[in-house]
Amino acid sequence: MKKIYMDNNATTRVKPEVLEAMLPFYQEQFGNPSSVHWAGRMVSGAVEKAREQVAALINCSPAEVIFISCGSEGDNFAIKGTADALKEKGNHIITTSVEHPAVLETCEHLEKNGYDVTYLKVDKDGMLDLQELEAAITDKTILISVMWANNETGNLFPIEKIGQIAKKYKVRFHTDAVQSVGKIPVDVQKANVDMAVISGHKIGAAKGVGAMYLRRGTRMTRFMHGGHQERNRRAGTHNVAGIVGLGVACELARENMEKDYAYVRKLRDKLEAGIRETIPEIKLNGHPNPDLRLPNTLNVSFAYIEGESLLLNFDMKGIAASSGSACTSGSLEPSHVMGAMCVDVVLAHSSTRFSLGADNTEEDVDFVLQELPPIVQRLREMSPLYNRKEPLTCDECRVVRRV
Ligand SMILES: Cc1ncc(COP(=O)(O)O)c(C=O)c1O
Repeated sequence: MKKIYMDNNATTRVKPEVLEAMLPFYQEQFGNPSSVHWAGRMVSGAVEKAREQVAALINCSPAEVIFISCGSEGDNFAIKGTADALKEKGNHIITTSVEHPAVLETCEHLEKNGYDVTYLKVDKDGMLDLQELEAAITDKTILISVMWANNETGNLFPIEKIGQIAKKYKVRFHTDAVQSVGKIPVDVQKANVDMAVISGHKIGAAKGVGAMYLRRGTRMTRFMHGGHQERNRRAGTHNVAGIVGLGVACELARENMEKDYAYVRKLRDKLEAGIRETIPEIKLNGHPNPDLRLPNTLNVSFAYIEGESLLLNFDMKGIAASSGSACTSGSLEPSHVMGAMCVDVVLAHSSTRFSLGADNTEEDVDFVLQELPPIVQRLREMSPLYNRKEPLTCDECRVVRRV
């Protein structure tokens, strides 16, 4: 059976160059970079080279890069580390209602421990109101945490403008850049962010490795204790092979950024246009202007059907896509992102995310466009809501909102 992978926002295949670069670090170059002997010295240079490669991709100094295990760790570290380090200054954090659970649940945890959190609303296109953001800042605000790109809709937030606001009010600014790094240019200096989080497995590196940009001089409470690694900022023996692979993935992303952006965007636009042409009663979830979304992401609701049934039918044809974020699949709760955008619950249930990658081809898109309309039609014919042909009741249209 043909296998088509369009779930690159959940995870990506390790790039061949990345794997090749990693392999020696599981065998002959097995040392611990913190050791002073030959085995340690053999690998410490490789870790530092990877640090330079990460720094070059996001335009910071290598000394501002900390290696971590994943995006979730980075978000936890940025938020809890700031909350603790600045607790004398204030207890107010501003974030958005559409962040990844790694941010939302960390904020909820802090709320239980005496912090106040403002969850900014988004409009129906999933965008923020920057006046609302500015108005939410108080003299107790210690942190603004806004993702660079949303994992479900692909929406891009105006990070540079938010950075200017944070600078104006001297509030620390963290961005979850997990979905944007490697897909679009990310310049942490230009955006005036203090902390940015990267996850290896979203950009063709391995699972279990990530990096965090921490602006020089940013006061933080350590998140992992027990070792002096990463200049005492993150304890734990380095995942050398993972880190080397992350470095190579960052270098490849930097070299191929323009080419991959144009290629993937063309495929995504073709998929979007094809769906619009062939399937009635759909809703695009995210900003209608494709320039304001990641080039690879398309989130669409197909009225009257369950996203889960659609995914199962896709799976039978060898197509991998997702409903909501990978972390919420398996749950029948509609995604909090759809809820925050006031997508009605029936449409929210059918929201389907296609996230393409540079490995995808025109033939992949043609195949999806050939298989999708009959699947949607068949599922609609089985749907009591579709067959009834009456307007949905208020209960059925209940809007699910997080805030
Ligand atoms: C926006 C965003 N932030 C954070 C994460 C968590 O990253 P990781 O899987 O590396 O923990 C994800 C993963 O889906 C994500 O999409």
